[in-house]
Amino acid sequence: MHQQDTRFHPTSIGEEEFLFFHEKGFLVLKNVLQEEELQRLQQAMTHLMEEGLARSPKGEDCVYGRGHKSGRPVLHRIEYVIDKTEEGKVLLGHPFILRSVEKLIGRDLIPTWDSMVLKLPGEGMIVPWHRDDGTEHVGDSPIFNVDFYLDPADLDTCLWAHPGSHLWPDEKVAELVERPGFSNEGAIPILMEAGDVLFHNVLLLHGSPSNVSTKMRRVLYYEFRSANVEMELGPHLPEYIQLKQQVLLDCIERRKKADYVSGETPYAYKPPEPFAVEQPSPLNTHRFPHEEFWRSD
Ligand SMILES: [Fe+2]
Repeated sequence: MHQQDTRFHPTSIGEEEFLFFHEKGFLVLKNVLQEEELQRLQQAMTHLMEEGLARSPKGEDCVYGRGHKSGRPVLHRIEYVIDKTEEGKVLLGHPFILRSVEKLIGRDLIPTWDSMVLKLPGEGMIVPWHRDDGTEHVGDSPIFNVDFYLDPADLDTCLWAHPGSHLWPDEKVAELVERPGFSNEGAIPILMEAGDVLFHNVLLLHGSPSNVSTKMRRVLYYEFRSANVEMELGPHLPEYIQLKQQVLLDCIERRKKADYVSGETPYAYKPPEPFAVEQPSPLNTHRFPHEEFWRSD
């Protein structure tokens, strides 16, 4: 598997990684998060997770499934982690990540989804083979998730993927998705350490088997899309684009002020017309619920 160690490549991914991502549909980047930022994120997300567990099964923006061992509601996802934590905001401004995203999808990038996905100790539920989105929203640039690993993912807890499956025809994907059980034949495990980052195309076929491991795995999923593709194909209304641009600008400014981040050249967000934005404007919230912005057509 191609891997880049960002300690030696501080600006953005290079040409080789660019080509690998387009060919395979994913890319592993080692040691993206510095130690202190990783610790801050782990603390902040532990706090969110504990709140979600305490309010089970009704925590705000929390998604619960049925535990495969206990049958009880098991927390497995928390939405809008950028709105909920300062650390999540600072993370969105990460210049290496944003310059790499720009390289892959263009200067009109916008952040869309931001969530934490959890596998709790002893309750690692199966995540069946799936794509994160359909081809109907993909234009001439990929849509992808930047997955920040807060815990290691080993063979007990990791994601599995079919390399190159983002290019498969829908029928081939459907055939594999409809197979009963979780066969990893033809797939590869994506092993990660805390602080590593995975880029995965939303059309990449991925999933993970259930497990009863005592290890916990938390991953932050930040999704990015091109504004021009979002404008053309949705799924959000056009006004969503400007709001999320403001979220991005605000988070870049917050990162500049974060006392635990050092030695970086901040990301300069300069989307071309008609998506050009000048200055960040004050925001009352960083939470723009998707369902309030779906197009009706
Ligand atoms: Fe997924």
